[in-house]
Amino acid sequence: MLVLGIESSCDETGVALVESHGRATPVLRAHALHSQIVMHQAYGGVVPELASRDHIRRVLPLAQTVLHEAGRSLAEIDVVAYTRGPGLAGALLVGAGVACALGAALGKPVLGVHHLEGHLLSPFLSADPPSFPFVALLVSGGHTQLMRVDGVGRYEILGETIDDAAGEAFDKSAKLMGLPYPGGPWLAKLAQQGDAAAFKLPRPLLHSGDLDFSFAGLKTAVLTQARKLGDQLEARKADLAASTQAAIVEVLLKKSMSALDVTGLNRLVVAGGVGANRDLRAQLDTACARRGVRVHYPELHLCTDNGAMIAMAAAMRLQAGVAQADARYAFDVKPRWPLDALQAA
Ligand code: KG4
Ligand code: ZN
Repeated sequence: MLVLGIESSCDETGVALVESHGRATPVLRAHALHSQIVMHQAYGGVVPELASRDHIRRVLPLAQTVLHEAGRSLAEIDVVAYTRGPGLAGALLVGAGVACALGAALGKPVLGVHHLEGHLLSPFLSADPPSFPFVALLVSGGHTQLMRVDGVGRYEILGETIDDAAGEAFDKSAKLMGLPYPGGPWLAKLAQQGDAAAFKLPRPLLHSGDLDFSFAGLKTAVLTQARKLGDQLEARKADLAASTQAAIVEVLLKKSMSALDVTGLNRLVVAGGVGANRDLRAQLDTACARRGVRVHYPELHLCTDNGAMIAMAAAMRLQAGVAQADARYAFDVKPRWPLDALQAA
């Protein structure tokens, strides 16, 4: 079965082809991505209307590229999958509209996919995929969750952020240090030259005894510190970046280890944009190795938004029998959509 996947929930247009045979893990045949980061950079953040218009411009040429690269024709596509939510309503509508139009024109069914399930299952695109069950640390720009994953569609949320997401903490802290959008990767790069012990920043909810997160207070502490530094901020920016990253990483690390303790599981999957953070990866690798826990990540270039994870999630849902593609082409999108609403029966 050949699945075309379209991602358009935020500021990247992604298209991919994934193929599945029987029960074997589906395989990525080709994927193409256009990032809108440069376009939004001028505004310091995503401008939703510009995002939608750019998705319209990019999605069909990307689909052509992917088909060409995979050496396949439109007629060979069996299912067209798209991101149904969560995300920006207008941006989601572009992917949904194009997917349904393609499906209708080809006479093939369509399937709306949950963006976070795409991230969650993205490590299955790697050469060494995980097996179920596992603990998942989902750390994207808008979400921070720890989950117990027993299979496709079998997700139990163990803890989540009560305010800002980890990605947001990276992005907002970076912004107030004057770094470009999106701040996460910039802050991480700057942090490499800084001293992580230079500033004492809070580790919110570190000892709360549960698996929830809170990052809003950390952002405020970074702001206070930046103000205190005043003219010296420029000279101490790398130290502040390193201290901020250390605070975020320590909380993510400790809570992930607690989630492994609580569940008794010995596999950890890390997914979402913040999963690209090298410091987080290094610390998780060390802590997991010490406990004999296997840790799986998506390939670095598939940590942030892409079409491959959407095609993969669709293929895995269909394969597991927890979803059916349909040919009604009556699409809607879900800008807000909790992942546990997906629960398989
Ligand atoms: O998963 P994603 O691409 O989009 C959402 O679904 O939200 O995640 C984007 C987030 C942004 O907050 C970005 O700053 C962060 O991931 N990010 C990073 C790194 N690369 C991306 N944060 C820290 N270090 C990185 N290397
Ligand atoms: Zn995402």
